[in-house]
Amino acid sequence: MATSLNDQVVLVTGAARGMGAEHVRGLVARGARVLATDVLDDEGEALAASLGDRVTYTHLEVTDESQWRGALALAESRYGPVSHLVNNAGVVTFGSVETMEPAVFRRTLDINLTGCWLGMHVVIPSIKRAGGGSIVNIASTAGLQGYANLGAYVASKWGLRGLTKTAALELGRDNIRVNLIHPGPIRTPMIAGLGDELAATQPINRIGEPSEVTAMLLFLLTEATYSTGHEFIIDGGAVIGQALDVIKAQGDR
Ligand SMILES: NC(=O)c1ccc[n+]([C@@H]2O[C@H](COP(=O)([O-])OP(=O)(O)OC[C@H]3O[C@@H](n4cnc5c(N)ncnc54)[C@H](O)[C@@H]3O)[C@@H](O)[C@H]2O)c1
Repeated sequence: MATSLNDQVVLVTGAARGMGAEHVRGLVARGARVLATDVLDDEGEALAASLGDRVTYTHLEVTDESQWRGALALAESRYGPVSHLVNNAGVVTFGSVETMEPAVFRRTLDINLTGCWLGMHVVIPSIKRAGGGSIVNIASTAGLQGYANLGAYVASKWGLRGLTKTAALELGRDNIRVNLIHPGPIRTPMIAGLGDELAATQPINRIGEPSEVTAMLLFLLTEATYSTGHEFIIDGGAVIGQALDVIKAQGDR
């Protein structure tokens, strides 16, 4: 029942670097044709040039509906209807609930949450024209718990969970699956300088590699034919609990 990616068209946001770029490489290796999009045009063009004519790069600011429509038109004219959308673009912003500027909070939600909604809103008709396919939204372990000083990021990623389940409910009959990935700390520019400390208390106490997330993405696009509306965690065990030194054999009571 697994779906092949051979010659299927995939649109990836935030694809110029980090996890998005690794997703593009993984998709091309599996035979897909990819519209790679980002706002970092030099990096995006360089990635596409390194991968040949199965990848086209175009500028796409995910908060801009007209740019979404332009990107979709380009994908369709070059490759045909889009079968899969990967909503990967995101930003992290720091500040407490008390001190963060309201404009920063709004901008974070605009990119991380509204940007994913806009992408689905614009691309769903193309996936229907392709006869079905799937959408993968990228959240975070910050979508499973709170983190002090990351309120905007946390709110955006929790919101994405509800949006994913809603879209899955709406699209199941159209043969479109919608799933979500929660990465833990992954070695990308987003967490440069933070990762080692973030991973120190995890059962698998190292930073994850982008390729480990790409493996899950490829599974969700191809093999996970009976999964929709669900959440898949790749975090080295970060959110399973705490190994507290104070809890050890002491005599039952
Ligand atoms: N790196 C981690 O540890 C980690 C952990 C959990 C979740 N995530 C999520 O994974 C996704 C990818 O992040 P990454 O770690 O590869 O980070 P990254 O910063 O390397 O890549 C993010 C990409 O998104 C692009 N982008 C940012 N704002 C955009 C906008 N308005 N329009 C279009 N593109 C935009 C950036 O230019 C960049 O290329 C993000 O959604 C992030 O929140 C990352």
